[in-house]
Amino acid sequence: MNPNVRPETMERITTKAQADAFIAEQIKALREQVGDKKVLLALSGGVDSSVVAALLIRAIGKNLTCVHVNHGLLRKGEPEQVIKVFREELGANLIYVDAVDRFLDRLAGVADPEQKRKIIGDEFIKVFAEEARKLDGIEFLGQGTIYPDILESKGIKSHHNVGGLPEDLKFELVEPVKLLYKDEVRVVGSALGLPDSMVQRQPFPGPGLGVRCVGAITRDRLEAVRESDAILREEFAKAGLAGKVWQYFTIVPDFRSTGITDGKRTYDWPVVIRAINTRDAIAATVEELPWELMKKLTQRITTEVKGVNRVLMDLTPKPSGTIEWE
Ligand code: XMP
Repeated sequence: MNPNVRPETMERITTKAQADAFIAEQIKALREQVGDKKVLLALSGGVDSSVVAALLIRAIGKNLTCVHVNHGLLRKGEPEQVIKVFREELGANLIYVDAVDRFLDRLAGVADPEQKRKIIGDEFIKVFAEEARKLDGIEFLGQGTIYPDILESKGIKSHHNVGGLPEDLKFELVEPVKLLYKDEVRVVGSALGLPDSMVQRQPFPGPGLGVRCVGAITRDRLEAVRESDAILREEFAKAGLAGKVWQYFTIVPDFRSTGITDGKRTYDWPVVIRAINTRDAIAATVEELPWELMKKLTQRITTEVKGVNRVLMDLTPKPSGTIEWE
């Protein structure tokens, strides 16, 4: 039996009881695979790595070490949530690495999207490898691989551009959710007691806000992406759209236009709103937002986000546009 092929007899996990059965089975399998050895896991705070972390904490407790790398391209409040949930609530061994300056310094002046992705992927491996080398006795590497990752062949963009670890850090892989689809991972996450805000979250690209701060990333424009994204998420939640729209975020392009604030001329960036629905991210349609919500977003973003004087709406389906702008 190929361990990377989902058996036809495997039931789709949709209920808490099915999730509990899966969890019990995986805990047993993880203990058999790992024994009393140590596992290292890169914990991004996304659904997949969070669920793998929670499973491993149940199975092996302190023999799991999680590394959370803050590359400066995370959404507002994300690193804080990872620390709160995993270190404080679940008692995980969690190493938090503030690598913001390293990433942003390397990215300075780099405008090409593929080059940006490459730098983010490379730097991530470097930071993670440095942390791994500081630890003794690690034999396994936990990974949040899910079934679509196995099925997916090459895409238009280098989505999975994070290369492997260097030769001296070849660990055996531990991939407890590799045969699950995303919706199943979410059900398992809820059954493990992870908060909805972590389990039900929308997809978020590995290069994070970096692909939404179009062109060469600057710290002030990146802050405009982060702050406008936080406002958008807050207003979507208030409007009851948070679980309904598949993906929604803001983009700050690298151009400015003239505006007026408090009677004074401004020359600032626009914020672009993108809200889309899709089944598989291969094709997508645009969510038709209520006009009142668009007015509220425009008002809040232009008054609360520094350096922004205009709000635009992206009306482009995929194709012709990709979901992310880079
Ligand atoms: P595109 O922009 O290609 O995006 O239409 C399709 C979906 O993939 C997400 N995405 C990424 N996910 N690493 C990821 O893990 C990436 O580099 C990446 N780029 C795009 C995107 O958010 C959308 O859901």
